[in-house]
Amino acid sequence: MPPRLEWTDDLSVGVEVLDHHHQQIVELINRVSRTMFTGAEADMVTVVLHDLRDYATFHFREEEAHLEAQGYSDLESHRRLHRHMAGQIDEIIAMHDGGPRKVVASELHEFLSNWLVRHIRNADHAYAPLFAPPVQGAYNGT
Ligand SMILES: [Fe+2]
Repeated sequence: MPPRLEWTDDLSVGVEVLDHHHQQIVELINRVSRTMFTGAEADMVTVVLHDLRDYATFHFREEEAHLEAQGYSDLESHRRLHRHMAGQIDEIIAMHDGGPRKVVASELHEFLSNWLVRHIRNADHAYAPLFAPPVQGAYNGT
């Protein structure tokens, strides 16, 4: 059984609802691994992969709406990253549908763990300062 992916506080982007989404995605990745590893029916794995795809799509849309509301200057490139990530899940689904043995549970777990964690640490943490509370006592220009 691949080690569970764990959400840790250092992954926080400082927005509770988005952290919650990321935690749900962590759980879905663990569910994909568990389902594959326990040798569940190929159909079951397809269902869980689609759950991951659907939830990630929902989350990407919500996150983009938050960024748009804040006038985030890098929104377009962030959108592109999300589209790319959704496409990667589509590829995994297509690969899996082409024959479950083509996808190895431990390799997929590692791929998806990096897929999420790298995105959070790089792209998501880049927008986090937008939502950070102002520093107390900092010069505010007035
Ligand atoms: Fe993101």
